[in-house]
Amino acid sequence: MRTLLGIDVSTTGVTALVVDSRGRVVASETTGLTLSTPRPLWAEQHPGDWWHATVQSVRRLLARPGVEAGAIAGVGLTGQMHGLVLLDEQGRALRPAILWNDQRTAAECDAIRAIIGRTRLIETTGNDALAGFTAPKLLWVQRHEPDIWARTRTMLLPKDYIRFRLTGARATDKADASGTLLFDLKRRTWSSDIADALGIPAGWLPPTHEGPEITSTVSTTAAAETGLPPDTPVVAGGGDQSAGAVGVGAVAPGIISAVLGTSGVVFVTTEGPVVQPEGRLHAFCHAVPGRWHLMGVMLSAAGSLQWYHDALASSSDFDALVDEADEVAAGADGLLFLPYLTGERTPHADPLARGALVGLTRRHGRAHITRAVLEGVAFGLRDCFDLVSDASLADRRAMKMRLSGGGAKSALWRRIVASVLDMPVERVNSTDGAAFGAALLAGVGVGVWRDVATACAETISVIGSDEPVDAWREPYARMHEIYASLYPALAPTFARLATPL
Ligand code: XUL
Repeated sequence: MRTLLGIDVSTTGVTALVVDSRGRVVASETTGLTLSTPRPLWAEQHPGDWWHATVQSVRRLLARPGVEAGAIAGVGLTGQMHGLVLLDEQGRALRPAILWNDQRTAAECDAIRAIIGRTRLIETTGNDALAGFTAPKLLWVQRHEPDIWARTRTMLLPKDYIRFRLTGARATDKADASGTLLFDLKRRTWSSDIADALGIPAGWLPPTHEGPEITSTVSTTAAAETGLPPDTPVVAGGGDQSAGAVGVGAVAPGIISAVLGTSGVVFVTTEGPVVQPEGRLHAFCHAVPGRWHLMGVMLSAAGSLQWYHDALASSSDFDALVDEADEVAAGADGLLFLPYLTGERTPHADPLARGALVGLTRRHGRAHITRAVLEGVAFGLRDCFDLVSDASLADRRAMKMRLSGGGAKSALWRRIVASVLDMPVERVNSTDGAAFGAALLAGVGVGVWRDVATACAETISVIGSDEPVDAWREPYARMHEIYASLYPALAPTFARLATPL
């Protein structure tokens, strides 16, 4: 039986997974990655580390029983979006990649709005300038590292650096390219107007392809390193959110993908490009050819729980910590958590937003704080969902929500999200998210399935649904109202706190 390989270059690790042509996961391997934060607001990783982790994951995968290198018909790539990789003439990475959650570029975002004009920027790219996007990072390098700028010949996104090492080709997909702020959303191609106005040479931008299109094949050098057969086709794939949406079957309007990963996402497919005049949501191309999507992104969702565990409760395992929170009433006895630990994008595009615990009393113990963290993240998802459902103009009652990501493994967190959103949240059989979606895109590219919708229909099914808890609806509606009032009240304080002492 032919199989498909999906590779996901995420922020926390590189996952390689093999799927058979019925959509069953045969095996998967992950190699961890570390994140470097050399200065406040910075987040970097070295592209070479991604490649080493990819080689390790693939080699270990190929050594697993039931996995046959010769049966792999195609490879699909996905990964963290927006990260800036700069290559020199010889294809060497010139500096560590500047990642999606790096927040150093507030001044460059202002500069982009001033140069292009905010209205024109949003009309062309579908998006306002946000610190995590790629174009502001390019401007930052232009301004702060002129030597690197002068030696740059190619700009790539994280998963495309892996494509480059795997096949030698410089290429990307239209979904990931949309997150650069250099892409013409409606025309599904680079915007030479925006690139020219920002002084970014057109020759640095790689060709773009639809998600299932074959971009290149595994080179003999990469074959020797990874153990993959030479000449295996590699498809364009997609950024992790669009490939993740494919991986849960969110490929048509009406099915919302909500993700509780490091970041938190609410994603809806649209038939055409939907550009909001204020650009409050991300409007990108989908990895599905000819489709687009809207999404709201929280920068710290399960990342908030991870931080809380590591900083304050590392002696407990995650399950035990979350179980304690089940004993606490909805609303955590008046305690609220703001999840803006790494700044925020949706609904408050503010790199200087900060986390907060508001309402602490002596009666609160660890279980209350845990509950408040789970609830605060759910309130953030609700903010994203409200914007997404209003903007997509879809009938909210007819929408289905599919929840995935590490945080979705917790039954309590799923019930909290369902109750805060006041709608059932479904779970699907595929739990491997973006890597699985990338494997499906590879399957479409090499002819295993006719198109992405067919691939999803034949491999993905709903296996359960969590309903809102009746008794929690009221307290959550009230707590969400208070939660929503906190950011506007605290924003000036956050800005002051971010000023060095
Ligand atoms: C999406 C985004 C994040 C990263 C996380 O816009 O920035 O979801 O892709 O990997």
